[in-house]
Amino acid sequence: MSQYQEKATVIRTEQFSEKNYRLTLDSPDIARSAKAGQFVMIRAGFGKDPLLRRPFSIHQTSTNGQIQIYFKIVGRGTDMLARIKAGDDLSVFGPLGKGFVIHENFPALIVGGGLGIAPMLFLAKSICRLKGDCGNDQIILGGREKVEVEPLVKDFKEFGIKMLLATDDGSYGHHGLVTDILSSLELHNRCTVYTCGPEPMMARVYEICKVRNVACQVSVESVMACGMGACLGCSRPTSKGTYAHVCLNGPVFKAEELVWNS
Ligand SMILES: Cc1cc2nc3c(=O)[nH]c(=O)nc-3n(C[C@H](O)[C@H](O)[C@H](O)COP(=O)(O)OP(=O)(O)OC[C@H]3O[C@@H](n4cnc5c(N)ncnc54)[C@H](O)[C@@H]3O)c2cc1C
Ligand code: FES
Repeated sequence: MSQYQEKATVIRTEQFSEKNYRLTLDSPDIARSAKAGQFVMIRAGFGKDPLLRRPFSIHQTSTNGQIQIYFKIVGRGTDMLARIKAGDDLSVFGPLGKGFVIHENFPALIVGGGLGIAPMLFLAKSICRLKGDCGNDQIILGGREKVEVEPLVKDFKEFGIKMLLATDDGSYGHHGLVTDILSSLELHNRCTVYTCGPEPMMARVYEICKVRNVACQVSVESVMACGMGACLGCSRPTSKGTYAHVCLNGPVFKAEELVWNS
């Protein structure tokens, strides 16, 4: 699959909370070729400061050649990205990694928690487009508090997919965890659960899927330097006793392919 290094102009910046931001970038080659679950490496600063690119899931693409990333400030690179203004240019490399495999003939259940919501908009859009009707599909989104979830809900609602919402503090939707909601649902035995979020959340989602005997795909994170298989920085143990590169073999895996500490 082709990868591109683009000088992407920032079209729009949105600030959803003190630390949560969304950037819309003009990146036509990546927008055209990306699949849901893939990511881009972005050089957050100018010149060599900071040196390494940072990985971000592709939040959504549009037919007019734009991509979005949704991120939280956690350190220097993301802090620099949050200061970017419309009209600035960023160096973007991608699309990278393996995305979700969509099983179009069976119901989909998407579970996104915290920053794990980021790749799920692109996935929900792709599933609904492929099927033409996502009346049998559902999505569960959760976060610590309302500001982590509510600003994104409008975009998900565009496709008519059934949404269930949760916050840890009860400020929006169910008071509790996305996994509480998941455990309470009846799952079609041919359903696929697609999930991204904090590791303990994904481990619990997989546990629930295993007991119910339904397929589960996970999008995992790791610290990454190169994003393309050259530095070995992103290796993760697999259930076969080997190591996978999250950047090349993932970030999306069948949950049973990985080792989980629950
Ligand atoms: C495939 C992939 C997709 C990602 N998608 C998104 C996304 O859509 N939105 C988003 O906000 N973030 C995403 N991340 C995480 C994002 O890349 C990091 O938050 C970012 O690189 C931090 O850069 P920084 O310079 O701000 O922080 P740094 O100064 O580099 O680090 C700050 C702190 O964050 C920790 N950290 C840095 N990177 C990671 C990581 N990958 N996993 C866990 N802890 C980390 C560091 O250990 C340190 O404690 C993704 C990561 C991967 C691997
Ligand atoms: S990030 Fe370098 S090998 Fe994966």
